[in-house]
Amino acid sequence: MTTAHKHKVLRVDLAERSYDILIGNGLVASAGEHIKPLLASPRVLTITDENVAQHWLEPYRRSMTACGIECHELILPPGEQTKSFEYLGQVTEWLLETGVDRKTTLVALGGGVIGDLAGFAAAVTLRGIPFIQVPTTLLSQVDSSVGGKTAIDMPQGKNLVGAFYQPRLVLADMDVLDTLPDREFMAGYAEVVKYGLLGDSNFFEWCENHGKALAAGDSAERAHAVETSCRAKARVVAADEREEDQRALLNLGHTFAHAFEIEVGFGDKLLHGEAVGMGMISAFELSHLLDLCPGQDVERVRRHFEAVGMPTDIRALSDASWTAERLISHMGRDKKTEDGRLTFILARGIGEAFISRDVDQTVLRDYLEKYLAS
Ligand code: GLY
Repeated sequence: MTTAHKHKVLRVDLAERSYDILIGNGLVASAGEHIKPLLASPRVLTITDENVAQHWLEPYRRSMTACGIECHELILPPGEQTKSFEYLGQVTEWLLETGVDRKTTLVALGGGVIGDLAGFAAAVTLRGIPFIQVPTTLLSQVDSSVGGKTAIDMPQGKNLVGAFYQPRLVLADMDVLDTLPDREFMAGYAEVVKYGLLGDSNFFEWCENHGKALAAGDSAERAHAVETSCRAKARVVAADEREEDQRALLNLGHTFAHAFEIEVGFGDKLLHGEAVGMGMISAFELSHLLDLCPGQDVERVRRHFEAVGMPTDIRALSDASWTAERLISHMGRDKKTEDGRLTFILARGIGEAFISRDVDQTVLRDYLEKYLAS
C-alpha cells in the first residue's frame, strides 16, 4: 500500500524520546501505514470524541484495519468537561478492561481535550504505555499535540494535574481542518500567529500576507503555517522539555488569557485561542506601556487579528463586575506564578518576546483599570 499524498516530516529531538511530526494531506486516511512501523504489538486502542468520530473514525479505522492492526475505540463527549478526573477514570478503566499491556499503543484522535486526556491516561496506565497523537484541530496541531504536556482540569483550575509525556508520533492532517467550524479554526490560528510574535517577525509578516487565504481554506498555506509553527515549537521543546526556562515563551498572551477565561467561564462564549489572541494584544499593550515595545507594533498585532476577523476586545464580554484586582488575582493562580510573582511574556517588538517575572504591579493595575474603563 502506498501513501497517495506527500507530507513533510519534522523531528522533535529529545534523545531516546525523539519523534516525528508528519504534516500533509491524507494522513488520517493512511494512518495505519504511518503508525504500524512504530507498534510493538499490532493492537491499538483509540480515544476520540463524538464530533471527530462522525467525520474521521471510519477512514482512520479502515486504514488501520487494512494494515492488519487490531483496533478498539472509546468515543467520549466533546468539550472541555471531558478533560476531568471522572473521564480519566473512565478512560483508564476502559483501557484495563479492553486489555492493555506495555506494548499496547494508545492513539488520541481529536483536539486538545482528547490529546491531553489520552496522553495523561497513557502516562499513568501501567506506569506508561506508548502514545500517538492524531490532532484534529489547528490548535492541537500547532500546539498541544507537540511537546508532551498532558493534563486534566481540576475544580481549582485548568491543567493542574498532569505529566510531561511525549508521544511517539504526531500526524497533522490538513484534511481534518476542512471539517472544523470556522470559529474553531480561527481560534487555533491565534496560536499560529503566536510563533511569529514571539520569535519570528518574518513569519508574522507571512501571516499578515497569507492569513486570509489560510482562513479561506487554502491547504498549502495551512500546511506551511502548521509546519512553521511545529518547527518553532519542536525547537523550543528540544531545548527545554520541562519548561524550566525558555519554553515559558510559548505562553505569550496566556497570563491575560487565563484571567479572561476564568471571568467569562470556560466554554463557547470565549474559546481558548480567542482568549490567547486578545491576551497577546494585552501583552503587547503592557509592553508598550512599560516603554519596551513601539506603539506601531502593538497596532500591527491588533490590525492583523481584526483583518482575519478575530475578536480583539475582551470588553465585548466583560461587565461591571470585572475589576483589575480580580483579573490580577486570577493571574496569580496561574501555574507559572513563582513565590507570588506573576510571570509575563513581554515583547520588545514583533518577534522579540522575553520572560519577565518583575512586572511592576502598579503599571499592570493601571493598565487593566484604564483598559476596563475605556
Ligand atoms: N502550550 C505551551 C507548551 O506546550 O509549552
